[in-house]
Amino acid sequence: MATKSKFQAIKGTRDLLPPETALWNHVEQTAREVFATYGFGEIRLPIFEPTELFARSIGTDTDVVSKEMYTFATGYDSDSVDESVPGRTVTLRPEATASICRAYIENNMQQLPHPVKLYCIGPMFRRERPQKGRYRQFYQIDAEILGGPDAPAIDAEVVEMLMTFFDKVGLQGTTLYINSVGHSAPNCRRGYVELLRAELQKVRDKLGPDSQRRIETNPLRVLDSKVESEQPYIEKLPHIADHLCEDCAANYAAVKRELELRGVIYEENWRLVRGLDYYTRTTFEITAAGLGSQNAVCGGGRYDGLIELLGGPPTKATGFAIGEDRLILSLQESANSQSPTIGYQSLSVYIAWMGDKAYATAVRAAKDLRNAGFSVELPPVAQKFGKALGQADKLGAKYALILGEDEVAEGTWTLKTLADGTQTKLPEPALIEHLRKQL
Ligand code: HAM
Repeated sequence: MATKSKFQAIKGTRDLLPPETALWNHVEQTAREVFATYGFGEIRLPIFEPTELFARSIGTDTDVVSKEMYTFATGYDSDSVDESVPGRTVTLRPEATASICRAYIENNMQQLPHPVKLYCIGPMFRRERPQKGRYRQFYQIDAEILGGPDAPAIDAEVVEMLMTFFDKVGLQGTTLYINSVGHSAPNCRRGYVELLRAELQKVRDKLGPDSQRRIETNPLRVLDSKVESEQPYIEKLPHIADHLCEDCAANYAAVKRELELRGVIYEENWRLVRGLDYYTRTTFEITAAGLGSQNAVCGGGRYDGLIELLGGPPTKATGFAIGEDRLILSLQESANSQSPTIGYQSLSVYIAWMGDKAYATAVRAAKDLRNAGFSVELPPVAQKFGKALGQADKLGAKYALILGEDEVAEGTWTLKTLADGTQTKLPEPALIEHLRKQL
C-alpha cells in the first residue's frame, strides 16, 4: 500500500529515480563524448550568483528576470566581500550563459588560446507555471564558444555539434529553426524595433494585456506570443530579415551557407526572437517530437555584446542550452525505440546462499564477480532457497548462483538460468569465464 510522506517535493521540482537516471547518465555521457570531439572542456559553476549578473545579462524586462527568479538576501554575513553594497541579493541561476561569461572574465580566460569552448551540465531554476516539460528546477546541457574571429563557421559548427549529439542519442522528429536578430550595437535592430512598435500601436486594441504591455517594454517579445486571437495581426508585422544592416544580412547569409556546407537542415523562422535580451545576429531553436506545447528542446544563439557588458573585453560568443528534461521526455515518448533503461546495468547474478560456511564463500564470490564487472545481489541475511529464487526473479536477475553447504564442500557451484530454469554445475574458477561468454 502506498504511504504518504509528511513532506512532498516542492511544486515544480521532482525526484529522478533509477532506472530512469541511467538514461540521464547515458545522455550526459554522450554529450561529453560528442562535445570533446569538438574540443570542448567542462566548466562547473556555482548554483547561485549575484542577482545583478542575471538582471544585466538577461535583461530586466524579460519574463525570466522580472518574474521567474529565485532571489534571496545573503544575510550580509561577515564573509561577504560586498558588505558595502546595500540591498545585495543572490539568485539561483536561471541559466548558465551569464555565469560562463562571468567566469571567463574572472578567470582571465581571454589569455587562453581562442576560441574558448566550454560546456556545463546541471540544474537551473525558474519560477514558471509547472506543466509537462516545464519545471521550476530543470536541467540544462549548455555549451558556449567564447572569443575567436567573427566567423559564421563558428555559429554553424556549434549547430552541427548539437545536431550530431541529438542524432547520437536518437532524438526523433527534430526541426531546427534559425533567425537573425541583427546587431544591438552599433544598431540595426533599433530601427526594426521602432518600426515594430509603430506597427503594433496600430493594432494595440486587438492584442491581449501581455502583448500590449510589451509594446512599450520589449516589442520583439510580442512575436513570441502564442495567444490565438493575436496571430493574424502578428503574422502581418514586418520581418526583421528585411531590416538588417548590410553586415548583418551578409552574416546571416553566410551562416546559412555554412550550415548547408555541413549538411545541416534548417527552417527559417522570422518570429524566433528568443526570450533573453543578450542575443545578437543568429538565433536558433530546436523542437522535437512528443513534447506537446513545451516542445523547444534547445535554444541558443550569438551574444557578441555580453562579455563586454559584464566588464570584459569585446568578445564574440555563441552557444546553446539543451533542456535535458525535455530531451529525456522526448526520447521516452518516441516509440520507446530507445529502451528507458539504456545503459542501466541490470542484475546479472543473485547469490542464493544458506548456512554460515556458504555465507563466507558467497561474500567472496560476490566480491570477485563485482570486480569482474557483473552486477550482483548478495542477500544480507539467510533465506530459504525458495524465497531467494523468488526474490531473484522479482529483481529481474539473469542467474541465481546457488551456494549451499554441499556446493561449498564440493567446490562445485550451481548456476541456475532464471528464464528457463536450467542448471549448470561449475567449479569455482570456471564461473567468471562461463558468465562472460553468456552475458
Ligand atoms: P532558454 O531558451 O531560456 O535559453 O533555455 C534553453 C532550453 O532550456 C529551452 O529550450 C528548454 O528546453 C529548457 N528550459 C527552459 N526553461 C525550462 C523549464 N522551466 N523547464 C524545463 N526546461 C526548460 C537559455 O537558457 C540560454 N542560456 C541558451 C543559450 C546558451 N544561449 C546561448 N548560449
